[in-house]
Formats: sequence, C-alpha cells, structure tokens
Amino acid sequence: MKIFNQISEMKAFIREQQASGNAVGFIPTMGALHEGHLSMVKRAAKENNIVVVSIFVNPLQFGKPEEADRYPANMEKDLKSAESAGTHVIFHPDVMEMYPEGYKTYIEVKEISDVLCGVKRKGHFIGVATVVLKLLNIVHPDRAYFGQKDAQQAVIIKQMVRDLNMDPEIIVSPTIRENDGLAMSSRNILLSELQRSNAAVMYRSLKKAIELVNKGISDCCRIKSEMEQILTNQANAEVEYISIVEAESLKEVKKIQGKVLVAVAVLFDSIRLIDNVTIEV
Ligand SMILES: Nc1ncnc2c1ncn2[C@@H]1O[C@H](COP(=O)(O)OP(=O)(O)OP(=O)(O)O)[C@@H](O)[C@H]1O
Ligand SMILES: [Mg+2]
Repeated sequence: MKIFNQISEMKAFIREQQASGNAVGFIPTMGALHEGHLSMVKRAAKENNIVVVSIFVNPLQFGKPEEADRYPANMEKDLKSAESAGTHVIFHPDVMEMYPEGYKTYIEVKEISDVLCGVKRKGHFIGVATVVLKLLNIVHPDRAYFGQKDAQQAVIIKQMVRDLNMDPEIIVSPTIRENDGLAMSSRNILLSELQRSNAAVMYRSLKKAIELVNKGISDCCRIKSEMEQILTNQANAEVEYISIVEAESLKEVKKIQGKVLVAVAVLFDSIRLIDNVTIEV
C-alpha cells in the first residue's frame, strides 16, 4: 500500500493508472476507520482496479477548530485495516497542503444544506462540499463512495457533482450497524459505556417509524411523536431533530408518500450522533 501526503504525487499516480486503463475507486474519510468505512473499501475493491482512501480531518467542517484537533485518530490501526480491506493508496495530506495560506474558495450547495443537520451546524456543509470537491479533483476517481449514514451529505454531494458537471460516479453505500443497531461512527468511541448502550435508542426509534408505516400509518406528525417518546424516555438523550423529508429534495413531508428519509440527530451529553432510514411506499 502506498501513502501519499502531497497532492502532486497523488495526481501523478492517478494519471498513470488511468492512462493504463485502471478504474479508480475512492473513499474519502476522516480516519478512525470502522466497518462502515471498510465496507466501502471492500466494495470499491470489487468494482475498481485501484482503491484510494483519503484520511483528512477537515477543519472547515467543524464549528470550532479545536473540535478538529480533538477528533479521534488512530493512524497505525487505520493503515492496517485499510490495507487488509483492499486499499492500494492512502492519501493523507496535512491542513497546509489542502488549505495553503491565501486559500479563498468555498462551495455552497443552497437550500439542501440549510435543513436537518444544517440548521444547527451552520457552515458545516460548505466545509464538506469544499473538501469533497477538492478531493475529487485531486483523486479524479471513476467512482466515489459515501455512506448512507450521512444521508444529507450524500444528497448534497450528488447535487454538487451534477451541478458542476463533475466526472465521478457517486455511489451511496448502506449504513453498517453494531449488533444493537447503533450506526457505526468514528465518534462512537467517545461515548462512555452507559452512553454507548443508551445510543441504541436511535435505531429503535427509526425502527418504530418503519413499523408504523408497515401498519399503514402515514401521518408524519403521529410517527414523529411516537419516535420522540422513545427517544425522550431514554435518560440523557437530547433530541436535536426528528425529521421526515423527501429523500431527494430533503423537503419536510406531512404524509409518507414515495421515497422518504426518516432522520434523527441526538445528543448524548456533548456527543452528537445522527442516523436515518429510508422508507418507500
Ligand atoms: N456506519 C456507517 N456505514 C456506512 N458508511 C459510513 C458509516 N459511518 C460513516 N460512513 C461513511 O464514511 C465516510 C467517511 O465518514 P467519516 O470519516 O466522517 O466517518 P464517521 O463515522 O461519519 O465519523 P463521525 O463519527 O465523525 O461522524 C462518509 O461517507 C460516511 O457517510
Ligand atoms: Mg462523519
């Protein structure tokens, strides 16, 4: 497995690979890799000749720069697990390589960045879109993989790629969960043992939504209020939002119709977790 820190060496390698007809699959990450990331690596290894994983904790997408400094990191373990899942190249630039002095360009995907997680996390998706655009320009993959756990992020990236006539095919990969249903997330390791077991309530609330829809209930107010009950019955879980939106436009819906996204964000003390399910009727 190769490790590149420089944009120029990453680009030169890809040019060579694509010139010789190799398809490149790319998984952008912030490191602290888990089975969610590795499932995409394994899939990319099946669908492409070359698999590139980036590990870059993007300061632009955090509210405060200190949050990026506190982000979980375990480089040695990441290198081992990435390689055994089928990664050929790790791209690991530092902040100055990505945002040198004098950096001035930011990408804003309007409207769909202002709902759900965008309500409380102002500017977060500008940071995400900007870094993903840069990474896609640097790696220029044939396919780029994003997780369904971050459903809004995936919708925003697909919109950006479409709007800006970018080449990579964007593939959204299913959410990988722990045994109790908690969506895997790098920040799960920040949870205490108690918070960790409490956090399973999120998926229980989402499964309730599926159960109600299966019973023929389509009123979103009713569904959200039953979800809220489940979440607020859990000690130390503070609900940030419970939303039911159209899966593509992310517009709030009153009745379940077509393909919808049921999404939640919950704080366990200061640790903010998100999860979602899609329902199609
Ligand atoms: N449980 C999961 N299943 C599938 N994909 C996932 C999962 N968790 C994260 N991903 C995807 O991995 C990619 C990189 O995400 P990132 O490195 O931020 O990991 P993360 O687990 O979301 O971290 P954090 O805890 O900070 O949210 C994103 O496309 C994200 O959607
Ligand atoms: Mg994340």
